[in-house]
Parts: sequence; C-alpha cells; structure tokens
Amino acid sequence: MKNVEIIKKLERERNLTDKEFARVIETLTATEREELFARARAVREREYGKVVYIRGLIEFTNYCKNDCYYCGIRKSNKNAERYRLTPEDILECAREGYKLGFRTFVLQGGEDIRFTKDGLAEIIFSIKKEFPDCAVTLSVGERCREDYQCWYEAGADRYLLRHETADEEHYKKLHPASMSLAARKKCLYDLRDIGYQVGAGFMVGSPGQTVESLIKDLRFLQELKPHMIGIGPFLSHQETPFAEEKNGSFETTLVLLSILRLMFPGVLLPATTALGTIESDGREKGLLAGANVVMPNLSPVHVRKKYELYDNKICTGEESAQSTDSLRARIESVGYHLVVGRGDSRISPLTVSKSK
Ligand code: 5AD
Repeated sequence: MKNVEIIKKLERERNLTDKEFARVIETLTATEREELFARARAVREREYGKVVYIRGLIEFTNYCKNDCYYCGIRKSNKNAERYRLTPEDILECAREGYKLGFRTFVLQGGEDIRFTKDGLAEIIFSIKKEFPDCAVTLSVGERCREDYQCWYEAGADRYLLRHETADEEHYKKLHPASMSLAARKKCLYDLRDIGYQVGAGFMVGSPGQTVESLIKDLRFLQELKPHMIGIGPFLSHQETPFAEEKNGSFETTLVLLSILRLMFPGVLLPATTALGTIESDGREKGLLAGANVVMPNLSPVHVRKKYELYDNKICTGEESAQSTDSLRARIESVGYHLVVGRGDSRISPLTVSKSK
C-alpha cells in the first residue's frame, strides 16, 4: 500500500497495524506529511471547528522528589533555584488569568510533598469558590488514590500525568529504579476511575526511544482512552545526565500530533511549550497538524525562568498569558481563533461521572 493510502486508512479506521504506523512515523516525504496534516486538520475542524482553547499554566513549585534523567527540575540538580508559591500567590495568578479570559487553570508542579493532600485541596477549593465557572486541572505527578479522590471532591476537574513512554525497557532508561511504568499506569487508571478528565502523553525523541516505543505509546493510549494527550519533543537540559543527548525531531512531533488527531478525533491536543521552543512558530504549526489547545504561562514572572524543564524554555515573551494579544494574532494568522471558556473535551467520561 502507498503511504497516502495508509494515511486514508488511518483516518477511516482510526487505527493501523504496527508496520503501517512505523511507515507513517518514519517514511513520509514532505508532500505526504502535508497530506497527513491536512487530514488531521479537517478532522479537528469537524470536531472543534476553528476554535482554540486556552489554559493558564500556573507552575507553582519546582521542588521535586523525583530524579528523572531528562528533567531540569530533577532532585539532583543542585543548581536549580527552588521556589514554592503560597496559596495566596496561586489565587492571585488565577485572578489575573480570569481577567485575561482564562477559564481553565492548570496547577502544575514537581512532586513536592510539602503540598499535602489537605493543603492542595484548600487551594483547589478556594479557586473553585471564587471562579465557579472555571475548570481546575492538576498536574502534580504520582500520588495515592486517596489524595486524588480528595482533590476531585475539592473541585478539581482534570488531571495531566504524562506516561512519558509505554515501553518498559525505555521507561527504565529515562527514570531511576524507584519509579515504574506500572505505578504510573495505576495512577492514570485511578484518576480515570475517580471521574477526572485525564491527560496522558509522552516526549518525542527522548534518548533510547525507538519507533517500537512510539507504537507502544499509541497502543497504550488506545487502551486508556484519555481526554487529553500532551506531547512535545525531548529537549536536553544541561544539568541532567542527558545534557549531551540530541533533541527530538520537530517534524516527527508534528506527524505524531496528526496521527493522534486521526486516532482520537475528539481528544484535546495541546500545541505545547516544547514545540514552541524547538521552532519559533512551532505552536502554530502544531495547530495546523491537528492540535487545538494552547497553554500560556500564568506563573509570576520572577519564577518563570526557574521552572526550567529543558534548556531555553520559552517563558517571558509572546507565549506568556499576559501577551494574549500577540497570541491571538498568531493563532488568527493560521486561521483559528481563541475562545473564552472551559473548553471541555468532546469525549464523554468513561466512567459515570461521580458526584462531588
Ligand atoms: N524535554 C521535553 N519535555 C520534558 N518534560 C520534562 N523534561 C523534559 C525535557 N527535557 C516534560 C515531561 C513532563 C512534562 C511536564 O514536561 O513529559 O511530563
């Protein structure tokens, strides 16, 4: 079968054999890639029209008890300047975001045990109390089911936890022995079961990743059926064991965005910060390959540089939440427009939504 026929099959059946997936990931010509992007875009427009959802990202702590080999805020990075926002700081970010038109706040942080179950629940509760029309998304890593349950009851709506790689062997190359793919998956299933809208995802081109690893990611996502999928290129950070590793490929990331859009038509797919870091118009190109969400930074300006997951992370320019005008212009330049709203997924909850 020709590559274009495989792309049509993917659109029709939302699935391919492993061999066909490998062909699409590895062998498309530039023209064939354009064909793939156009089909992904058409599906995205059928599902979501020309609308782009925005999320205000509040990076509230860069303390982390984990030591992932790729990540700039890993525990062993003694040169990272650590910070923690207070509950009042976090609320202030949400207030500023609300004024700017944000109706989803993403509380993201390292795995910082100083934010206890009850402490974080109070923060969630206070945001939801002041802004009942907003969604709160958490992204604070692996915790016990009881914590997740408590935060859901406090009002959290969504949870982002990238699985990073669904390939066991590859997982071990990216993480110390204290972490496991099984534990990560259990968290994702717990979150889904509790009633959260769940986001998983992976890095593209992380050290040791093969096309087989990527296919395992796709198969795992078919099993999990998340509402959101976050992907971006791996970017090296100088203070990590992967300092000398090469960055992931921009084009392959776009190809994977399109594959994901065709596999999961209703999924929420962000054009991530990493994509905007590797190429200056990376997020616009991501939107043109099927992405439908952007997540500008709402963190206080003085901490932004410190939440450095990888080198040269964009954070103070046009991508920040305060620059909504230029962000809006960029998005309009590719034919889409930003909307004010929670921007829920079109995928209905898998479990009967449990009352809070
Ligand atoms: N390059 C790209 N993405 C990274 N992340 C962490 N470190 C890096 C890096 N060096 C991603 C991980 C994590 C998310 C918050 O950021 O996928 O889940």
